[in-house]
Formats: sequence, structure tokens, C-alpha cells
Amino acid sequence: MASSSSSWSPVCFLSGLLLMASTSMAAAPRKPVNVPFGRNYVPTWAFDHIKYINGGSETQLVLDNYTGTGFQSKGSYLFGHFSMKIKLPPGDTAGVVTAFYLSSTNNEHDEIDFEFLGNRTGEPPILQTNVFTGGKGDREQRIYLWFDPSKAYHSYSVLWNLYQIVFLIDDIPIRVFKNCKDLGVRFPFNQPMKIYSSLWNADDWATRGGLEKTNWANAPFIASYQGFHVDGCQTSVEAKFCATQGKMWWDREEFRDLDAYQWRRLRWVRKKWTIYNYCTDRSRYPVTPPECKRDRDL
Ligand SMILES: *[C@@H]1O[C@H](CO)[C@@H](O)[C@H](O)[C@H]1NC(C)=O
Ligand SMILES: *[C@@H]1O[C@H](CO)[C@@H](O)[C@H](O)[C@H]1NC(C)=O
Repeated sequence: MASSSSSWSPVCFLSGLLLMASTSMAAAPRKPVNVPFGRNYVPTWAFDHIKYINGGSETQLVLDNYTGTGFQSKGSYLFGHFSMKIKLPPGDTAGVVTAFYLSSTNNEHDEIDFEFLGNRTGEPPILQTNVFTGGKGDREQRIYLWFDPSKAYHSYSVLWNLYQIVFLIDDIPIRVFKNCKDLGVRFPFNQPMKIYSSLWNADDWATRGGLEKTNWANAPFIASYQGFHVDGCQTSVEAKFCATQGKMWWDREEFRDLDAYQWRRLRWVRKKWTIYNYCTDRSRYPVTPPECKRDRDL
């Protein structure tokens, strides 16, 4: 089943069949709590629409009919575990998008996206994820959430190492993008990324394809954030490799694939909560994209 004898072969084979040691990602090193916003992050635009609470250990982004806002990490990173606790705006949030993503800043950029698409009160918001490599995206997946994301903080994380990119919600994997370099699919490995979050009005497309418009009577929309610690290899923007590569906890064997328990959780997400997956969209991709092919679930 492992396809080639190149050093990349362990990376993208039928990973669902691989039973790893039972260490799970939850066993990752504990993060320090209460790191203030300003240690690792700066506002990107509309500085007056960001509020700092408890000395910056909690931050709020405010969207009104005048502007949205956003912030970004000071540092650039190659590989790591990037996590943010977010509480989405409550109530009628049709048209409102909250994003948390990593992106490199160059031309053929790499990007790893969480985008929360709001909805009318009582209707389900959507979490859309996407992965860009070398400037190529079009890899959308969409899920409904099994909880109300505006009621409490949940942690949204990206694990990124040389083997895989894993999207997690509260340590439950919701998406995996394996390194399929051996199949000719570019994988982010040499373009440092910054971490971003933003809140803005996207009622031209976000909710029911743009049919539902933002209800400004419910403004201001407020997204709240905690957990500004960053667990990544910090480099200069121009760096092509990370000095500690191969030595950090996210490089360890047990983080190179999901373990059996995590594959079960991912399968649950796919079965019960997924509403769109580009991998299975035959009208858009008559030929299955290579990185989807080796996933035995799809
Ligand atoms: C924006 O909202 C404010 C406060 O609700 C309101 O007074 C103002 O008229 C609104 N402006 C526009 C252009 O809708
Ligand atoms: C909003 O609710 C409608 C109706 O339940 C649903 O079709 C749609 O997927 C929901 N989410 C978004 C972001 O449009």
C-alpha cells in the first residue's frame, strides 16, 4: 500500500490504516495561560474597533456599519501548533464572517483558513476551511458545528509540521491535509506564515450564498478572543527553514499522523457535520484531486 520508496512515502499513504501509539494531540504540552494580546499580536486595521480586557488577556473585535477590524501576529512561523480561543458574535449574524488563519505574505502564498459564516438567529452558522499551497486554493470544506460557537469559548487550532496540517476544534480533528509532495501536490514548508484574525461584513456571499443580508440593527457584532500564546518556530519572513526543525514537540512521531481515536473523531465529523467537501464534488472536480485520493474515507 505504501506507494514509493522515496523518503516521502510514509507521509501520504492510507493513513487511516495506521494505528499509532495512543498519545493524542491533547497530550501536547500545556500552554501558558493569560499571555497578553500585545506580546505576540498587533492590530492590523481599524485600531479603535479592538477592545482590550483584563490587561489584554481577552480581546474583542467590533464590527459596525462603519468598519470591521482584525489583528495579526508580530512574528512569522514555520511549523508549530497555532491555537486561538474564540467566542463568535451572538444572535442574528447573517452576513458576518469571523476568520482565523495563517498566511504567508509572498506571491505564491500558502494559507490555512478557518472562516465562520454567521446566520440568522436559530439557523446554523457554517465553518468553512481551506488550504492554499503555492497560491492554489479551491479546497473548501464546510461543516456545521455541534455546539453554539457564540455561547462559550472554544479552541480552534492548526497543527502544522512537515507531514500534515490538521485543523482541530477543542482537540477534535475536523480536517487533515497530508503532505502529498510525492503526488505532485505542493505542501507549505518554506514560506513562513503569520497568524491573522478578522471580523467583517461579507453579506455579498457568506450566508445562503449572499441571499441573507447583515442586519445592522443587531450591530455592533463582537467576537471575543483569548489564548495569545504562540507555539511555533519563529523565523524571519524570508527564512526558508526553521533552525529547530525536527526538534520541537510537533515534529515528534505521534504528530505525523492522526491516531486511531482521532481518525474516529474525524470520521464522525465527516459523517455527521460535513455539508461540503471539495474532494467529493464531482461536478467541480471530475478527477479527484490527488491529495484526496489516498484518504480511504473519501
Ligand atoms: C450606522 O449605525 C449608527 C448607530 O446605529 C447609526 O446612527 C447610523 O445612521 C448608521 N449609518 C449608516 C450609514 O447606516
Ligand atoms: C444558514 O441557514 C440556512 C437555513 O437553515 C442554511 O441553509 C445555511 O447553510 C446556513 N448557514 C449559512 C452560513 O448560510
